[in-house]
Amino acid sequence: MDRLRERLTEAGQSHLLQFWNELSPEDQAEMSKDLDGMNFKEINGFFKSAMETSCQTKQEKVDSRMEPVPREVLGSVTRDRESLKDWEKEGLRCIAQNKVAVLLLAGGQGTRLGVSYPKGMYDVGLPSHKTLFQIQAERILKLQQLAEQQHNAKCCIPWYIMTSGRTMESTKEYFSKHNYFGLSQDDVVFFQQGMLPAMDYSGKIILESKGKLSMAPDGNGGLYRALGTQKIIVDMERRGISCIHVYCVDNILVKVADPAFVGFCALKGADCGAKVVEKTNPTEAVGVVCKVDGRYQVVEYSEITLATAERRSADGRLMFNAGNVANHFFSLTFLRDIVNIHEPQLQHHVAQKKIPYVDTQGQLIKPDKPNGIKMEKFVFDIFQFAKTFVVYEVLREDEFSPLKNADSQDGKDNPTTARHALMSLHHRWVLNAGGHFIDENGTRVPAIPSLKDGTDLPIKCEISPLVSYGGEGLEGLVKGREFRPTLVIDKHGLHELVKNGL
Ligand code: UD1
Repeated sequence: MDRLRERLTEAGQSHLLQFWNELSPEDQAEMSKDLDGMNFKEINGFFKSAMETSCQTKQEKVDSRMEPVPREVLGSVTRDRESLKDWEKEGLRCIAQNKVAVLLLAGGQGTRLGVSYPKGMYDVGLPSHKTLFQIQAERILKLQQLAEQQHNAKCCIPWYIMTSGRTMESTKEYFSKHNYFGLSQDDVVFFQQGMLPAMDYSGKIILESKGKLSMAPDGNGGLYRALGTQKIIVDMERRGISCIHVYCVDNILVKVADPAFVGFCALKGADCGAKVVEKTNPTEAVGVVCKVDGRYQVVEYSEITLATAERRSADGRLMFNAGNVANHFFSLTFLRDIVNIHEPQLQHHVAQKKIPYVDTQGQLIKPDKPNGIKMEKFVFDIFQFAKTFVVYEVLREDEFSPLKNADSQDGKDNPTTARHALMSLHHRWVLNAGGHFIDENGTRVPAIPSLKDGTDLPIKCEISPLVSYGGEGLEGLVKGREFRPTLVIDKHGLHELVKNGL
């Protein structure tokens, strides 16, 4: 205990023990275990340099140093249609050779969505009631199958899932309860990112209760430290992985291990790649991929000024329109260098927050304005170290509909918009495969829905990823046929649900 007291005094954090004598022996044991595991010197160092960088960046706005992504590093599913098949073929070849892994960032706290459990366990209300985790797992299964069929060899796409202290146990339990959704347990690898304390503006760690520090995950860029400490790089090497697709949990349309994206990056010899959609609304909450001082970077929506966000090129499009959808490609060699060499150079970003705390009287205070900071690294902070960086542009309606917020009227990025985006994509898949929809009077529903009744509801249609990964293989099931929504296509066949439960 004396040693701990000494360490805290040296670090200027002795206030953390101010309620020590009021704690029960169990709470004391718990608290001293938490404190023993912390490196205060390092945390104080993080605070100092994060605050310095944050002050600097506030003063010299990034805007004047930003340049759009040059055309030569850009691949596009629309503009480069003739290459798409080759990219996809290459991606499937890499998958069939067991060279591709996927890595899910799922350590966030889902504060905006407002649920107490991991976001991946959220059910947006699809006819099947599948959760985000299940949809992603089934896409992996299907892709393995497609690669196996094309290359006549058994293959596996290992799935690395990064969680945080708060989400680890419930995530693991959920997967085990659902039998890993048909994936092999050995190929689903959970690991945990680090946590950092919240601090007030003078660098004192905040107590959330008398015996507990206010802790939060260290940002999705906490990935790189965790890859080393949790021996994930070693596991990837052991499996012979060379390409890694890293993505965020909340995008219901995510093409996990997307062969076209993987193939594009691999054929370009890239060590690092980012998938983007065209940003069309200047105030949309997506970061933009661009160059700053000649190096690739994502400038977050919170870091760009409105004037820059609104700038347009001669063709009328936003100048900074490479909207980051948080889907990244990394070569293993690149990741290994990041972990071994560059990770310590990455600065934490500062997020000012309203952080509940106990005051010197031991009263819990919930502040109504920011009273401290959380420190986070970002997953894309390593783009600056890439030797060959590429950007891959896809269509928003096919690939990007993130779940960030709870449902509210006219809301954005919520369960309703996610559900509609998926059903609308699957509706288009059926039409493309030659199927049709009819309404309750037996009349064909036009492909482009009419908005005259004021409702913009999609046709209710859901296709299991176990049946189709990206719209392929549906002709045999739907061509020339008429369906009454709700249409569900799953591994047991086609079902027209009479009752509209949605
Ligand atoms: C993120 C991107 C933003 C992009 C947007 C697209 C980052 C830093 N920002 O923003 O550029 O335009 O997605 O939807 O990537 N996470 C962790 N650990 C943490 C914090 C977050 O694993 O400590 C995970 C979350 O579980 C989630 C992902 O990172 O899967 C993104 O986190 P979120 O806070 O939702 O990022 P956004 O601000 O929406």
